[in-house]
Amino acid sequence: MSSTPKPPGTDVPPGKPRKSPGKTRPDPVRRRRFLRKCLGALGGVGFLMAVYPLIRYIEPPPEAEGANRVEIDKASLPPGTSRTVIYRGRPTIVVNTSDGYIAYNAVCPHLGCVVKWEGGTQSLICPCHGGKFGTDGSVQGGPIPGPLTAVELSVSDDKIIIGA
Ligand code: FES
Repeated sequence: MSSTPKPPGTDVPPGKPRKSPGKTRPDPVRRRRFLRKCLGALGGVGFLMAVYPLIRYIEPPPEAEGANRVEIDKASLPPGTSRTVIYRGRPTIVVNTSDGYIAYNAVCPHLGCVVKWEGGTQSLICPCHGGKFGTDGSVQGGPIPGPLTAVELSVSDDKIIIGA
């Protein structure tokens, strides 16, 4: 009586674990799950690496950063000139105009470029998109949504004090 050879593992009764002949092979389902977890972890790390710099860029610096009071010698700011200082972590432009000293947060309300003083037109100019502000901080041109933010200053005999 001859019998046909059965493929390996088919003669095991139901409920009993099969013995694999020779080398054991890793379970493909477990391996797939492991690879999915690895890819998920890598994707999460990549996402955080991409988002963190954006958040740091968008988030304004804390008010506590930088000096809370900045003093400038009056002699270093002749009439018609300006100076940009860092006050509370933000660029602040101080101008000696014909009407007296003015100080504004120099960050343009449009997209955040730093404004410059233009003595010839007696205005503050944003170099990025041509925004223009008057000496009172009001918008005089360009795509700017609002005026510059004034910064408190006081003047003593020989000093201009920002944040007084
Ligand atoms: S950033 Fe100043 S006008 Fe656009």
